Amino acid sequence: MKSDAVDISADARIPRHVGIIMDGNGRWATSRHLPRAAGHRAGVKNIEPIVECMLDRGVRCVTVFAFSTENGGRPVSEVKSLFALFRKQILPLVKKLVVRGARVVFSGERESLPDDVVKLMTEAETLGDGNDKTVNIAFNYGSRAEIVRACKLAAASGEITERSIERGLYTADLPELDMIVRTGGEKRLSNFLLYQAAYGELFFTDTLWPDFSAAEACDMLDEFAKRTRRFGKV
Ligand code: IPE
Ligand code: IPE
Ligand code: MG
Repeated sequence: MKSDAVDISADARIPRHVGIIMDGNGRWATSRHLPRAAGHRAGVKNIEPIVECMLDRGVRCVTVFAFSTENGGRPVSEVKSLFALFRKQILPLVKKLVVRGARVVFSGERESLPDDVVKLMTEAETLGDGNDKTVNIAFNYGSRAEIVRACKLAAASGEITERSIERGLYTADLPELDMIVRTGGEKRLSNFLLYQAAYGELFFTDTLWPDFSAAEACDMLDEFAKRTRRFGKV
């Protein structure tokens, strides 16, 4: 953790957990007459500065939506380029995040992923052992599938309650999701953390993910601090 980082995790003005739907890589590339893969490369480069800014502001956990189950239905060439990028960039990215005081975990379905990708995930998860902040990378993730899985686990445990279902979510050990950011102009969740978002504050920006800056992220955190959260109460 940087020495100037704030430790105000108990302060309700700081979200404990921020989810980011990093959308707009393809359009960023197309507007520059570049292949979509170049947009994904630029998008990966932007993860570390934005996460760093949030962790420095006292956020304890950031979940980034990197690849949805549904993204697997994109043209084979694009899916291939996304997996190639994951293979090349995941350990360098995780090492940078570990230096920032985070451990890295993954949310999503692993069984259908190539063995070498799963191996990289397992290795990445060990690098930040002992760090108290968390970066959760949602990769091959779909929220409906996650909820079905959690319900099955809850049923097998013989107890179906909100608590038991939450224990089966990938986010079971993570703080409550307080804030969701979506870049790229669309105003939808696209199967991202549907259960966890129940009382999350939503933030949308037209800025395409590779252009999303730490300054804009800070502005959103400032706005979060001003919002009144009622949780159904008066
Ligand atoms: C988000 O950017 C990254 C992934 C979904 C992998 P997109 O690839 O969806 O970019 P746009 O929305 O087409 O611009
Ligand atoms: C959401 O973006 C998934 C990620 C950012 C990884 P999409 O581009 O897949 O979402 P839709 O298709 O616009 O809903
Ligand atoms: Mg998109």
